[in-house]
Amino acid sequence: MAILKVAMLGNPVLRKKAAAVKDVAGAETQRLIDDMIDTMKEYSGVGLAAPQVHASHRLCIIEAVKGSPFKEAVALLNPSIEPLSQQKADDWEGCLSIGDLRGTVPRFRHIGVKALDRKGKVVEFEATEFFARVIQHEVDHLEGVLYFDRMKDLTTLTHMNEWSRYWLKKS
Ligand code: NI
Repeated sequence: MAILKVAMLGNPVLRKKAAAVKDVAGAETQRLIDDMIDTMKEYSGVGLAAPQVHASHRLCIIEAVKGSPFKEAVALLNPSIEPLSQQKADDWEGCLSIGDLRGTVPRFRHIGVKALDRKGKVVEFEATEFFARVIQHEVDHLEGVLYFDRMKDLTTLTHMNEWSRYWLKKS
């Protein structure tokens, strides 16, 4: 297992549409999943998409955040999502590929998710609130979309220090 180098904003891989994973069971895919889990944990992320580690594949790791039915970090391969309600909520997001910034992003509150797990088995589940937010953020990475593309405007885009200083109490 290894900690992988994270692609930072400006790297074209972050803006590319990722290709479907074909060889789910292959050693290379399985190693990438293990390394991505290690990398996400190393940097205290709650999710990580393969393009963020220079691998333009439709694969993301979602940590077992509040609301997740999974007991540990889960790999979603070739995921698709659909809103189950048009209701959206605004909340703070950051991104390991963007670094020391946060902003408020509107996301669907309730989504349906269909993907393959790391064994190639189809998994289908519903996600709400923070869990749904993390999945939407990571699936966006597979389309080359970054969180600030989804912000209504950039007025809440904030460095972490200033976030703690000016925004923490308000949120
Ligand atoms: Ni991100």
